[in-house]
Amino acid sequence: MLTILVLFYSRYGSVKQMAQHIARGIESVKGCKARLRTVPPVSATTVDIAPAIPEEGALYATLEDLRTANGLALGSPTRFGNMAAPLKYFLETATPLWLSGELVNKPAAVFSSTASLHGGQETTLLSMMLPLFHLGFMLMGIPYTEPDLNQTTTGGTPYGATHVTGSDGKKPISVEEQRLCFAMGKRLGEITLKLNQLKNTSHEGI
Ligand SMILES: Cc1cc2nc3c(=O)[nH]c(=O)nc-3n(C[C@H](O)[C@H](O)[C@H](O)COP(=O)(O)O)c2cc1C
Repeated sequence: MLTILVLFYSRYGSVKQMAQHIARGIESVKGCKARLRTVPPVSATTVDIAPAIPEEGALYATLEDLRTANGLALGSPTRFGNMAAPLKYFLETATPLWLSGELVNKPAAVFSSTASLHGGQETTLLSMMLPLFHLGFMLMGIPYTEPDLNQTTTGGTPYGATHVTGSDGKKPISVEEQRLCFAMGKRLGEITLKLNQLKNTSHEGI
């Protein structure tokens, strides 16, 4: 069984819901399971210590989750057109895995949500890809063969799945957004499976 880590930060729950749709897409692929993990908030004063186990929802990710995963879906709310600090902070602890090269050639995809339609979804997705390239991940998006990419009037981009929450954060995830989350998870699962089959049959590995 291959494991795909769905690693996300979510303050108000939108990215968390997206993570669940992506996990369903991953698990629609026979031989793949999704492992949902989150990261604790960060504090400017660094006096608050988060409990080791969150009160509800996904467990906090460890570097071991990242190391042992066969693939990665990384999700963050947009913060001023960029990835949220807690997720970036976690990625900056991954230096040992960067040095060992253990994440090289693992497939990855990114997802995000914004309050407004043109509030920086693509810039956030691209900002999330940058550290993943350094760590050696192979980035994939959503191809236009997914009809919802042309039909959505809210979120959904070829760079990764997105959702528009509205200024009150209450807009439900649209049908198109949901289907694009699922499609991205499914594609990530299929590609992870193919890469691992190739790795097992190739003498040189990939
Ligand atoms: C500090 C901060 C910066 C934000 N910056 C943006 C932004 O640049 N564009 C935007 O559309 N929404 C922005 N938002 C709104 C969040 O993206 C939105 O609340 C988030 O997608 C909700 O995700 P969550 O429900 O998973 O926490 C910002 C919110 C905060 C708190």
